[in-house]
Amino acid sequence: MVDYLKIPQHIAIIMDGNGRWAKSKGLPRTVGHTNGAKALQRVVEACKKFGVKILTVYAFSTENWSRPKEEVDFLMDLFAKYLKNQSKKLAENKIRFRVLGDKSRFSKDIQESMIKLENETKDFDEFYLNVAMNYGGRSEILKATKEIASEVSSGKLDINSIDEKVFENHIYTFGQPSPDLIIRTSGEQRLSGFLLWQCSYSELYFPKIHFPDFDEEQIKLAIEEYSKRDRRYGKV
Ligand code: FPP
Repeated sequence: MVDYLKIPQHIAIIMDGNGRWAKSKGLPRTVGHTNGAKALQRVVEACKKFGVKILTVYAFSTENWSRPKEEVDFLMDLFAKYLKNQSKKLAENKIRFRVLGDKSRFSKDIQESMIKLENETKDFDEFYLNVAMNYGGRSEILKATKEIASEVSSGKLDINSIDEKVFENHIYTFGQPSPDLIIRTSGEQRLSGFLLWQCSYSELYFPKIHFPDFDEEQIKLAIEEYSKRDRRYGKV
């Protein structure tokens, strides 16, 4: 079915438009988030079906804490339930799970669920699911910089040996290739701090559709668009 397509190895998605989707239907924003979670499930299945190896999704940014308390509480509740429900699904599908971001700001319960899922799935390699939570690209770069500076100051690392490879060992996606394709739903055309180091050579795609309506057909359209692009990775 997809023989003619060039399949990106790594797709990353900014899951935007949950609020607008709900508003357009006269529903509370929270219903948009619940339907966003359902769409995420469909997207994981579609990516796996098309032969994508890694899917990274932006679920919660470092700035999202400043949303109204009721919305943040709702999202935390949704994340807590999601993390608890995924255990069986990820095992059945041999999916390796990883959180990108600073876990320390989440409740103890959520942190424990995150670590449990990461540990339970650590030996799977069929498919990789990264969920960016309390993630910011600038914070990630600062984290890597601090860790590297500390290794230099303790004498563990020579300053002249710092290169891209060393840096990549200190970002959340360590060990994984950068995304080939970054999608932001809902028509907004900016990255909002998503994968700032990793996005250097990614193709960008901005479909107008809101994330709760995202499905297998939309992933196929994104892959078709990606297939048409003349990638010059490494040449420029
Ligand atoms: C952006 O839409 C979306 C979020 C801040 C939350 C993303 C969360 C989900 C898709 C829920 C599922 C995720 C997991 C991990 C269970 P928005 O609220 O900013 O929409 P708007 O721009 O239309 O207001």
